[in-house]
Amino acid sequence: MPGDSLRKKADPVLPAKEVAKGSTENVENKKKSGSNENDQEKKRNSEEEEAKGSKEEFKGMKDRDKDREKPAHPQKQPAPQKREKMKPNDLVKNESTVWKVVQLLGSGGFGDVYKVFNENAKDGKEFAMKTETLGGHRRLMRLKIEVMVLMDCQEAPAIHRQHFVEFIDKGKTDNFKFLVMSLVGPSLEDVRKTYLAHNYSMATAMYCAMQTLDAVADLHFLGYLHRDIKPANFAVGLNEPQAQIYVLDFGISRRHIDPKTGQPKGPRSRVKFIGTMRFAARACHLLQDQGRKDDLESWMYMVSFFVNRDLEDLDFF
Ligand SMILES: Nc1ncnc2c1ncn2[C@@H]1O[C@H](COP(=O)(O)OP(=O)(O)O)[C@@H](O)[C@H]1O
Ligand SMILES: [Mg+2]
Repeated sequence: MPGDSLRKKADPVLPAKEVAKGSTENVENKKKSGSNENDQEKKRNSEEEEAKGSKEEFKGMKDRDKDREKPAHPQKQPAPQKREKMKPNDLVKNESTVWKVVQLLGSGGFGDVYKVFNENAKDGKEFAMKTETLGGHRRLMRLKIEVMVLMDCQEAPAIHRQHFVEFIDKGKTDNFKFLVMSLVGPSLEDVRKTYLAHNYSMATAMYCAMQTLDAVADLHFLGYLHRDIKPANFAVGLNEPQAQIYVLDFGISRRHIDPKTGQPKGPRSRVKFIGTMRFAARACHLLQDQGRKDDLESWMYMVSFFVNRDLEDLDFF
């Protein structure tokens, strides 16, 4: 693996205790850092996706920003649904399993992530549960593709699935759909900003670069594009593989290989902006269909973020 030689030399990303602590404090940190940006961005993306039938072409940054301020069909935009968050000790029942909520880990526009454990299991092992409110617009249904990616991962050779969390369970309640996966630690966004307070070596930045590149390559190998590569969507491992970096959030992933032919799908002629403005590839800004190269371009922007550790967290979007 490309990261192996670096791993020996690199500073550990985080000491074990800090990582474990990090997972419990994740909600706070996420609220402070990546969460707002992520939520706003996803909400905005949803609005973009919903502006169906817009005849306006974006002709450069200025026009696009103007369009953002005045969406073509404001009445068609779905407002994020109000939903009640689950509280510690709430139960989510599936066919054979009863999941008990420990705490909220993160919150998005259309769902939340909770730390949970199986009440019937004696080991008390904790997992992450991602929820998605029922009744949202079809275009906002993102959990289905997440489940697909994680289930496909299970079939991949072990060497290609070490950067993915394990798929554990899926189900539906009266209010939401859910996905249960293995639990990981804080995101790279939280590690960079909060845990290491921008104070880390170039070796650590390079270690993260190699691990995340490996993860993106494995996802491409599986036949999917991520389309939202950014530090908030990668997380460090907990416990044993704590130096392992995991890729999360396949909510806007897309199959780039046609399963019938085994060949990459041809580009669609007209697409909406999707992703996170700060890390989006140029093709995405130009409303062109994305390919593997665009995930790599976003990866480069992310690496420049790791390397320029004093880069201010610009808030102009
Ligand atoms: N498997 C997991 N283990 C621990 N924390 C997780 C896990 N999956 C997600 N999270 C936390 O929840 C946050 C939001 O998850 P994500 O899948 O990125 O959802 P969103 O669609 O809201 O961006 C992540 O940044 C991470 O902090
Ligand atoms: Mg995310």
